Amino acid sequence: MKTAYYEKYGPPNVVIIKDAPKPTPKKDEILVKVVSAPITVGDTRIRGARFPKGFSVLARLALGVFGPRKKVLGICFSGVVESVGPEVANFKAGDEICGMTGIRMGTHAEYVVVKNTGSIAKKPKSVSHEDTAGMLFGGTSALFFLRNKAKVTKGETVLINGASGAVGTNAVQIAKFLGAEVTAVTSTQNIQLVTSLGAQNVIDYTKESVLRSTNTFDVVLDAVGNISIKSGLKLLKQNGRLVLMVASFGQILASGSKKQVITGTATEKKEDIKFLLSLLEKGQLEAVIDKIYPFSEIVDAHKHVDSGNKTGNVIVRM
Ligand SMILES: NC(=O)c1ccc[n+]([C@@H]2O[C@H](COP(=O)([O-])OP(=O)(O)OC[C@H]3O[C@@H](n4cnc5c(N)ncnc54)[C@H](OP(=O)(O)O)[C@@H]3O)[C@@H](O)[C@H]2O)c1
Repeated sequence: MKTAYYEKYGPPNVVIIKDAPKPTPKKDEILVKVVSAPITVGDTRIRGARFPKGFSVLARLALGVFGPRKKVLGICFSGVVESVGPEVANFKAGDEICGMTGIRMGTHAEYVVVKNTGSIAKKPKSVSHEDTAGMLFGGTSALFFLRNKAKVTKGETVLINGASGAVGTNAVQIAKFLGAEVTAVTSTQNIQLVTSLGAQNVIDYTKESVLRSTNTFDVVLDAVGNISIKSGLKLLKQNGRLVLMVASFGQILASGSKKQVITGTATEKKEDIKFLLSLLEKGQLEAVIDKIYPFSEIVDAHKHVDSGNKTGNVIVRM
């Protein structure tokens, strides 16, 4: 099978298409033929060994000090079950499924093996593999921080910083779904997009600073990494919550003593994936796809994500 393989950390062209043996599922595993997979900021950060401030040593210890231990990137997929191990009863060959592989990665390949009990779910027939793949990373992250952690409720005011990205496009829609009044921070070219996704108010960061508002929001979600704890707290109403998705090591330590500040890493739960798929199916969530690349052009897809100018999601079709 073809894989997008990389042996050393570096720019997009460290990724090369290479043949590897097709895996065989163990007794509780599923072999999936990948149809579509996103190239996420997470993938390109790992590929380039670019981690939030203070995390370089820890991340390299986890991922490989001198080079990547896992040589195929990709944490999300949408595809078709090729075969299952003898203990797998709930999925069968031909089922369309999607999921996330977490730290095991490996979805930038023609086939991936996933645990039967992993973060996987059946894909609704009416939703495309591209939309499914495009929803997973940003959708699960936004849902985790807005609903599970910040516990956004009806009528609250929510600010999404980085509203046109993979996380932001989902966050705007999920906050709206939870009944919040959403203010999106984006650049001029994406104002129409975030408005169409449900933002009632827009701050164009190229023209005005988001930090000018005070005591305005119940929840601030920063998916850019340019809001400090001090300035973020000033934006909040009493009992507000500040979500720093790109927190430095120092900010995570500092947030330990502040109940209002939420940091950490999103976990991908099967139930959350199922919930998001049901929203996609009902048309209550839209996956924003910037560009779909053929697998053979995966290096260009990495370059596009590295540019920092993508809107929503970049997808590779196998
Ligand atoms: N903690 C976690 O568990 C977790 C989970 C997922 C993601 N993340 C992190 O969250 C971040 C966002 O991920 P993503 O996939 O959404 O990235 P992305 O798709 O690249 O989105 C970033 C967006 O930020 C916007 N932006 C850039 N500068 C901005 C500014 N000064 N003010 C407001 N918006 C600005 C860009 O929009 P314009 O084109 O309009 O400039 C871009 O669309 C990444 O750093 C990622 O690593 C963390």
